[in-house]
Amino acid sequence: MSLSTSYPRGPRLSFRDFKTADIADVHDYTSDPEVTRWSTWGPNTLEQTTAFIDNAARAHLDADRSAYSLAAVLDGRLIGSVAVWTTDSHDRNGELGYTLHRAYWGNGYATEAVNQLLEFGFNTLHLERISATCHPGNIGSIRVLEKSGFSLEGRLRSHRLERGVRRDSMLYSILREDVIPQ
Ligand SMILES: CC(C)(COP(=O)(O)OP(=O)(O)OC[C@H]1O[C@@H](n2cnc3c(N)ncnc32)[C@H](O)[C@@H]1OP(=O)(O)O)[C@@H](O)C(=O)NCCC(=O)NCCS
Repeated sequence: MSLSTSYPRGPRLSFRDFKTADIADVHDYTSDPEVTRWSTWGPNTLEQTTAFIDNAARAHLDADRSAYSLAAVLDGRLIGSVAVWTTDSHDRNGELGYTLHRAYWGNGYATEAVNQLLEFGFNTLHLERISATCHPGNIGSIRVLEKSGFSLEGRLRSHRLERGVRRDSMLYSILREDVIPQ
């Protein structure tokens, strides 16, 4: 992928690469235990958020980039992080994820972001299949995937190690043909 990839825009959200100046805004939600309740990571220390941003901010320099961790921006304010990445370039498989600041939950922003990630994943990354996993208790995230057209494929037993405890994940996927007429 070129160094000057352009990202899709939703009706309300835009997406951009992270920069070092984003650390404080991102730490606001990555350090929130309510936000990380169903995640394998967090609540973050400032060092962990800094490492995440350092890593994400360097990614756009990679000419063979296959992972896009992006800031979701609403009216100029950073409200969350979203990501889509290629997991297998031969099979054209990818995965996506999302985390929003708690102040912005319940307004359809995650669903809007997922729809933009799908467009980017299918049209720009040329993926054929995009999957997502989430904690079985993460009803909000499950609802986002359902609303975005994902199908439930099953329950991955003992899939993740979360703060020292193994737990299952729900596996969802969506195919190019599910969203783009053939
Ligand atoms: C999951 C998350 C991204 C959802 O963001 P959001 O912008 O609120 O999502 P949306 O508004 O697009 O949709 C959320 C849906 O879940 C529903 N929902 C949320 N919590 C719910 C709950 N506890 N019970 C039932 N429904 C719930 C909402 O009502 C909405 O559905 P609706 O439109 O049919 O009413 C957000 O809560 C978040 O960032 N959580 C922490 C990080 C995380 O869990 N990321 C996903 C990891 S797999």
